[in-house]
Amino acid sequence: MLTGGDKLRNAFESLARIVGTRYALYPADTGFEDYLRDETYLRGDASLVLAPATGDEVVAILAELRALRARHTNEQQHLTLTLRGGGSGLSGAAVPVSGIVLDTARMNRLLDVDEKNLIAKAECGIRVAEIQAALAGENFDYAVDPSSAALCTLGGSIATNAAGPSSLKYGTTRQNLAAVRFVTSGGELISAGALPAKTSMGFSLSDLLCGSEGRLGVILEADVRLLPRAEETALVVGSFGDESGAMDFVLQLRQSGLRPRCVEIVDGYSMRLADFSLAGEAMLMIELDGSAAQVAHDLEKLQALRPAIDWLLARGQSDRAGLWKKRKSITQELKKRFAFKLGEDIAVPLTALAHTAAFARTRAAERGVETAIWGHAGDGNLHVNYLLEKAADLPVLDILMKELAYEVTRVGGAISGEHGLGRLKKKFARAVLPAAYFNAQDRIKAAFDPDCMLNPALELPA
Ligand code: LAC
Ligand code: ZN
Repeated sequence: MLTGGDKLRNAFESLARIVGTRYALYPADTGFEDYLRDETYLRGDASLVLAPATGDEVVAILAELRALRARHTNEQQHLTLTLRGGGSGLSGAAVPVSGIVLDTARMNRLLDVDEKNLIAKAECGIRVAEIQAALAGENFDYAVDPSSAALCTLGGSIATNAAGPSSLKYGTTRQNLAAVRFVTSGGELISAGALPAKTSMGFSLSDLLCGSEGRLGVILEADVRLLPRAEETALVVGSFGDESGAMDFVLQLRQSGLRPRCVEIVDGYSMRLADFSLAGEAMLMIELDGSAAQVAHDLEKLQALRPAIDWLLARGQSDRAGLWKKRKSITQELKKRFAFKLGEDIAVPLTALAHTAAFARTRAAERGVETAIWGHAGDGNLHVNYLLEKAADLPVLDILMKELAYEVTRVGGAISGEHGLGRLKKKFARAVLPAAYFNAQDRIKAAFDPDCMLNPALELPA
């Protein structure tokens, strides 16, 4: 029997010609398999990968795809696009269910750095770390710093509203996105947002694209805001005898008037895994920045809050970078050891941090599942990681994630703080959140992509 892919060979060839056959991959080609995965344990399926070099090629692919869908009405599930940035996602949003993967990696130019307006313009496929590297010698920076910066693309970081440690002070991708240019599945090119710090021009389409997970349009370019680089930065690391003590200190810190750049928590297991040589069962990484006088003042104030803590202080760039490298390695280190680990990214009000972490651990332990918990505690954003070695254990994950989602919602939190719903959370999100919430989202999807040509895996019913 012919598969959809075989029947559509001519159709796929017509799409491949748009990008040039070198930039089209078929299932038998080397490297194809990589496009079926992200950083989760999921593996999808697809018939073709296309890697366009320009926005014009994307527009042409969409036009050809619409024509092919009209001709092959029974094969429409194979004539869809799943958008892919750096493949660093932790929710499965870029894992295709069928059809065509649109690899945005070749659209990767930094187009402009406007020092006067403090804006950088770049194509969607540039890696976030490449933007940071291009600004290394300047006295301003792109403040969004996801742990996956070396892997994730600007487009992907917009599509998930990526954040990371620095969002506590500087905001998530959304707060640092000035404008975005995207194309809808109908081929309409839309520029949304504007360069000034404020706009009031009807519905904010740039906010809508931010977190859209590839469902509303293909992001082609974006203008991001740059901020003056702090004169001085100091990172302090302190260990605590238990996790709830560390979380209580986060609350105390919040009320103290200090405004750290980052407040990260790492549990004992992850501390040892990432080779932080500290005793204790939890640690906090607190980064303070500002003028030299401000940082000195803040360090004193921090010490006074808990005189008993022996803070390890890193002021130099390389010392700080070494500690951050360890922190950012945790997710990869866990993945090496647990083939089926799942990294949650729930966010809760700070008063619910300790309770939520304890809830997740207890429920997991009751079902025999080990956990590692770390994350952006200052944001209330916890990476509860369920550590599984075998695919056979996966069904229990669905139960644990859903239970945690109900609890997070009950305390007023968000079931995803920064990774997105993706395929992993879509499965139960509709059960946990009110129907009216998703009805409104469905109407937005239908307005932008009525035929569901973009990322159809995320529309599948529970
Ligand atoms: C991190 C990723 C998992 O913060 O979001 O390391
Ligand atoms: Zn994170």
